Amino acid sequence: MDRKKNKTILVIVIAAIASTGGLLFGFDTGVISGALPFLKQSWGGMSSGQQELITAAVLIGAVLGAFSAGRITDIIGRKKVIIITSLIFAAGSILTGLAPNVTFLIVSRIILGIAIGISSFTVPLYISEISPTKIRGALVSSFQLMITIGILVSYFSDLAFADEANPYSWRWMFYVGVFPAIILFVGMIFLPETPRFLIGKGREKEGMKVLKRIEDKERVETAFNEIKMEIEKDRKSVGYAELFKKTWRIPLLIAVGIMFVQQFVGINTVIYYAPTIFIIAGFGGAKAAITATVSVGVVNVLSTVVSMSVIDRIGRRKLYFIGLIGMAVALSALGTFFLLKDNLGDSLKWVTVGTVLVYIFFFAISLGPLGWLIISEVFPTRVRGVGMSIGALSNWFFNAIVAYTFLKLAWLFTAPGMEIVNNNAAIPDPNPAGAFFVYSGVAILGLIWGLRYIPETKGVSLEKIEEHWRAGKKPNELKQ
Ligand code: BGC
Repeated sequence: MDRKKNKTILVIVIAAIASTGGLLFGFDTGVISGALPFLKQSWGGMSSGQQELITAAVLIGAVLGAFSAGRITDIIGRKKVIIITSLIFAAGSILTGLAPNVTFLIVSRIILGIAIGISSFTVPLYISEISPTKIRGALVSSFQLMITIGILVSYFSDLAFADEANPYSWRWMFYVGVFPAIILFVGMIFLPETPRFLIGKGREKEGMKVLKRIEDKERVETAFNEIKMEIEKDRKSVGYAELFKKTWRIPLLIAVGIMFVQQFVGINTVIYYAPTIFIIAGFGGAKAAITATVSVGVVNVLSTVVSMSVIDRIGRRKLYFIGLIGMAVALSALGTFFLLKDNLGDSLKWVTVGTVLVYIFFFAISLGPLGWLIISEVFPTRVRGVGMSIGALSNWFFNAIVAYTFLKLAWLFTAPGMEIVNNNAAIPDPNPAGAFFVYSGVAILGLIWGLRYIPETKGVSLEKIEEHWRAGKKPNELKQ
């Protein structure tokens, strides 16, 4: 086999191992959906406030993790931080499984959340810095692929451990998270630190060694010199203060902006509430609704694969626009169907599932992978850790807002007489039409914002991107 091929295989293996962090992200956020019905019955019953806190704990932890670890990745390195995170993941999984009471469980879920928050930016950061330019998009997107696989695995594992006779079935659902954590820990020990971090710390020989293993032979020298040159330019000032300088205002805006759009198009109302939405649309019981939810998980994974195979050819901007147009249409259609619920009758549940799948497809080919990819590309090397942590922090913060306002938003826009009563339930459900129209509005705003702010980073080295901002140029002027 020729050398080039060997190198490509090596970086694919590196990306695959590191992106186990994405699997843990997806698994540990998704696992709660199937665990909640059992938790409700544990310890003699639980209030809805306690259930909300148990769910929210992971998001709170993620905000804390993303906030606190940015500087650390720039100081001790990407690799070490990921290794530490894998240990927190393992501890969090065991502690949540062992929990003897609600408070213990909430604290353990916060610990798990901290690991999710840290890994959500260190893993794409690590992969992006270790990838050769021409396949960087696909490799960083493997992180998103693992998130979607993690979500799907959690749905299946919840199904497997769900034992109606045992209210403590959730313990094993949580314990399972230990296995990917061990894989990540062991795998990362054997992986190299990124050349950009090493060269930035003056460990040039080591950096060069890693570059030789991953870059095409003809590009090694150039890549080394480019990295060195860019690092020289910002050697003096590192940290948050540097990031808020005028030169880096644009990348910062891009990172926060893309995460705003990614979350406020309502993705997690589907990921966290799909069974609820499907029951509102008319599915008879939790089981049928959960089965329909599995199809969402499957389409999410498959569409991410589609995205990975084209992201370095079609480019980031086109995918962004195609995805958002598709999502805006699907969300408006969902809103319209729920408005016409009386005319649609029983078919409402089928058009709802169909349209949610279309929506997931468009999300998974665009904003899913693009959110994490773009924030890993736009920052200069010296502050990439801090910059990405701000991107991740925004992601988790916006995620929490959407997750906690979805049902309230749905009620806000449910005019009297528009409530939905299913299966003779005593309490009616809200009509989510209004909420879907709001998310559709965000998708349209995202389109307008993106025209100006989404850079085409396809085929452009991280150093060239950095140079582009330094020259004071606009994001939509970036070209290969
Ligand atoms: C988002 C998550 C979401 C997931 C769905 C990720 O890119 O950040 O909030 O749950 O995609 O696949």
